[in-house]
Amino acid sequence: MSAIPVVSEVPIDTDHRPTPVSSAPIPEAARPPLALWVEGLSVTFDGFKALTDITLTLEKGELRCLIGPNGAGKTTLMDCITGKTRPTEGAVYLENRLTDLTKLSECRIAQLGIGRKFQRPTVFQGHTVYENCELALKGNKGVFHTLFARLKPADRTRIDEILELIGLKDHAKRQAGLLAHGQKQWLEIGMLLAQSPTVLLIDEPIAGMTHAETERTAELLRGLAGAHTVVVVEHDMEFVRSIARRVTVLHQGKVLAEGPMAQIQKDPRVVEVYLGE
Ligand SMILES: Nc1ncnc2c1ncn2[C@@H]1O[C@H](COP(=O)(O)OP(=O)(O)OP(=O)(O)O)[C@@H](O)[C@H]1O
Ligand SMILES: [Mg+2]
Repeated sequence: MSAIPVVSEVPIDTDHRPTPVSSAPIPEAARPPLALWVEGLSVTFDGFKALTDITLTLEKGELRCLIGPNGAGKTTLMDCITGKTRPTEGAVYLENRLTDLTKLSECRIAQLGIGRKFQRPTVFQGHTVYENCELALKGNKGVFHTLFARLKPADRTRIDEILELIGLKDHAKRQAGLLAHGQKQWLEIGMLLAQSPTVLLIDEPIAGMTHAETERTAELLRGLAGAHTVVVVEHDMEFVRSIARRVTVLHQGKVLAEGPMAQIQKDPRVVEVYLGE
């Protein structure tokens, strides 16, 4: 556990809600509930501005794609949400706007339901698929439970559900190290799910996947939206088109555009800096 104190759970001005970028104003009462709310976020690395005044909101249950050229700041934004990087300015609020995640430790942010999947799978290679899910599930309940606690029937049911969802039910007894690359990625998503996150941040999930694995991943991510708020960073535009509803485009650390994929693809600024002619 990091030494960063938990100081943020104080009420904040609830009347000041940022308007989603480039969408028509919606009356306050008609707005769907938000899962996450990034407000005026800036990050400077040794004088270099990696993010400048990023404001964006995520509705509960939505699947948002985050796109943009290399170095646009996509991973840095995820790092700020999960507490890996401290912003120079700004805040990341959870739904009730009482909790500013930028004041909390990575561990506490994870406990509050923000799950992160990195590009390279980090499964326990020497353990079976089932054990990996088991460790993830127990890990969520604190360190004293991790080693010797027995699984409760409800936990077993949950693991079975997850294995079904990620398509690895028939591989439960296989050693994770022997799985194909795509299967390891799904297992890692399953391990995230075992920790019951409300928000899932997934960075470049299909890198190195076969076409069939990519299609299966699209199906999986679409299935997770609704029950979870999902943010996916990806460069493969065919994949983004297959999953995206709303897309946010970052460029040089700023939000360049935001809207439905069909609109984003036609946006001349996005075409110029990212999508090409
Ligand atoms: N720890 C760091 N120290 C210094 N500069 C950094 C650090 N992390 C990121 N940067 C810089 O910040 C900028 C944004 O990087 P980031 O990794 O967020 O981009 P990205 O949009 O995820 O790019 P990619 O599509 O290549 O993954 C880049 O110029 C990068 O070099
Ligand atoms: Mg990145």
